Amino acid sequence: MKKFASLLTFSVLTVFALVVLFPSCEGPEGPTGPSGQDGINGTDGTDGVDANSFCIECHTLDNKNAIKTQFTTFSKHGNPGFELAYAGGRNDCAMCHSHQGFMETTMTGRDTIGTAIPIPVGLQCETCHDFHMTLEEDGFPDYALRNNKPVSLLVDGHATSIDVKGSGNVCSYCHQPRMQAGFPLVPNGTDSIAIHSSHWGTHYGTQSVILMATGGFEIPGSLPYESTAHKTSTDCATCHMNKDGGEGVGGHTYRMKTIDGVENIAACTTCHSSATSFDINGVQTEIGELIHHLEELLMEHKLIDETGHAIPHSADNGLGRKFTSNEAGAVFNLLLIHYEGSHGIHNYKYTKALLTNTIEMAEAW
Ligand code: HEC
Ligand code: HEC
Ligand code: HEC
Ligand code: HEC
Ligand code: HEC
Ligand code: HEC
Repeated sequence: MKKFASLLTFSVLTVFALVVLFPSCEGPEGPTGPSGQDGINGTDGTDGVDANSFCIECHTLDNKNAIKTQFTTFSKHGNPGFELAYAGGRNDCAMCHSHQGFMETTMTGRDTIGTAIPIPVGLQCETCHDFHMTLEEDGFPDYALRNNKPVSLLVDGHATSIDVKGSGNVCSYCHQPRMQAGFPLVPNGTDSIAIHSSHWGTHYGTQSVILMATGGFEIPGSLPYESTAHKTSTDCATCHMNKDGGEGVGGHTYRMKTIDGVENIAACTTCHSSATSFDINGVQTEIGELIHHLEELLMEHKLIDETGHAIPHSADNGLGRKFTSNEAGAVFNLLLIHYEGSHGIHNYKYTKALLTNTIEMAEAW
């Protein structure tokens, strides 16, 4: 029994030695042969696509956070005022005043929503962005914009559309004049226009049509309806999203001036190298004076009140008769240019022609 046990121990140890300690028992090595010649170097492979150098021009967390801050701190889009609750859910306002209204109307192609929105929210990143149209580098910059197609205009009942350069159609869907009673107005037309409300006119955001030199009441006069080169050389983002002006302007603030009124001149000096203020060649001053002159004329003719609103035709302080199309057109032009807010910067030539020719007409009344 003892002998059997030691035999067993011996065999186990032998197996252990064979399997574990000498796993590859081979015969003795032969003499080492001479080393072979080095092979020829292979040619370098072509560089792979460096995803980092291209995608991260935009996609870094720092950039995203900076954009979020700009958007929610400085832009009314991301930080809307009372008009979100007032207009964001309403049938004929929501398309421009809430995320849901914009999403619904860009999908349905209608100007109104199906049913009032009980809890409207302000613009989100996804209002303007969805996904890239391409991921090929030569297709960039591609800003993954959602609705960057020509804008069919409300103001003439969708008879015409505008196609703003670059990313400008995204802005112009909302920054366009609205349709009102009597529109579209025809210069020297025979219709008389009933004005029932002091809110008659173009509404606030009229910038896109002015930039594109269209949509005004083009009464013939001494100036031709020409366009400044901004129509072809810039889009909304060129100026409003220029990032070189420091905090509080440009990028996703969309602002041209800080809250304290400091102008983002960097947005102009790329082309107007000697500019020191927006009032290049005194253009804003000149347009401001023309606006003031037209206002005085229209007040004299009882078409607008001292707050700049149209006077309903049957009001005590009003005309006592409906407006002629030229009278309504004069008020229309004033409001179009007043609410465009740039005093001639968006399109100096078109703005000056509308104001000058309207003033000539009103002076002859
Ligand atoms: C010119 C700037 C820019 C470049 C370059 C760029 N993107 Fe984008 N990308 C955007 C913007 C803007 C959005 C939409 C807003 C957002 O999600 O930040 C977006 C969205 C995306 C989304 C969707 C993100 C989401 O949360 O839904 C993906 C995925 C994406 N990009 C991938 C890429 C890839 C991959 C590349 C490189 C091949 C690339 N992008 C290059 C600007 C850019
Ligand atoms: C076609 C788009 C559009 C529609 C439709 C629209 N708005 Fe606006 N609204 C704008 C834009 C753009 C601005 C801001 C323009 C600017 O700051 O120059 C604005 C500004 C306003 C303001 C703020 C004015 C201020 O002093 O800041 C109010 C109030 C307002 N809208 C109410 C309404 C109401 C009420 C309706 C519906 C009856 C309506 N809007 C329909 C585009 C629209
Ligand atoms: C009102 C529309 C709008 C909204 C809302 C918006 N963007 Fe943009 N965004 C644009 C446009 C337009 C451009 C392209 C600018 C250009 O043409 O130079 C852009 C460009 C970008 C870019 C690439 C350029 C850059 O600055 O790096 C990024 C990234 C981006 N957006 C992210 C965002 C994020 C994140 C949000 C939400 C916090 C957001 N955007 C909200 C309109 C919008
Ligand atoms: C969905 C509709 C919508 C789109 C798209 C949109 N806007 Fe606006 N924008 C508005 C409204 C509404 C206001 C007024 C908001 C308020 O007063 O609360 C406004 C206000 C502004 C203002 C002045 C208020 C401020 O924040 O200083 C500027 C400048 C502006 N938008 C520029 C742009 C530019 C540039 C684009 C395109 C990149 C754009 N908007 C796209 C609806 C829009
Ligand atoms: C050539 C540069 C330039 C272009 C292009 C441009 N803007 Fe402007 N925009 C300005 C300047 C400058 C102002 C006025 C700043 C001031 O004096 O207060 C202004 C004013 C505005 C205002 C009024 C801002 C406020 O605080 O009330 C809005 C809204 C606006 N622009 C929207 C747009 C939209 C939308 C587009 C494209 C359709 C556009 N802009 C194209 C330079 C530009
Ligand atoms: C991408 C280039 C570009 C940018 C950016 C630009 N402009 Fe211009 N601007 C032009 C061109 C081109 C003209 C046409 C010059 C002409 O017709 O004499 C012009 C004309 C003008 C005019 C009319 C001048 C006149 O006397 O006829 C004014 C005013 C003006 N720009 C102001 C501005 C302001 C303010 C900014 C910045 C907010 C700006 N521009 C940004 C290219 C640009």
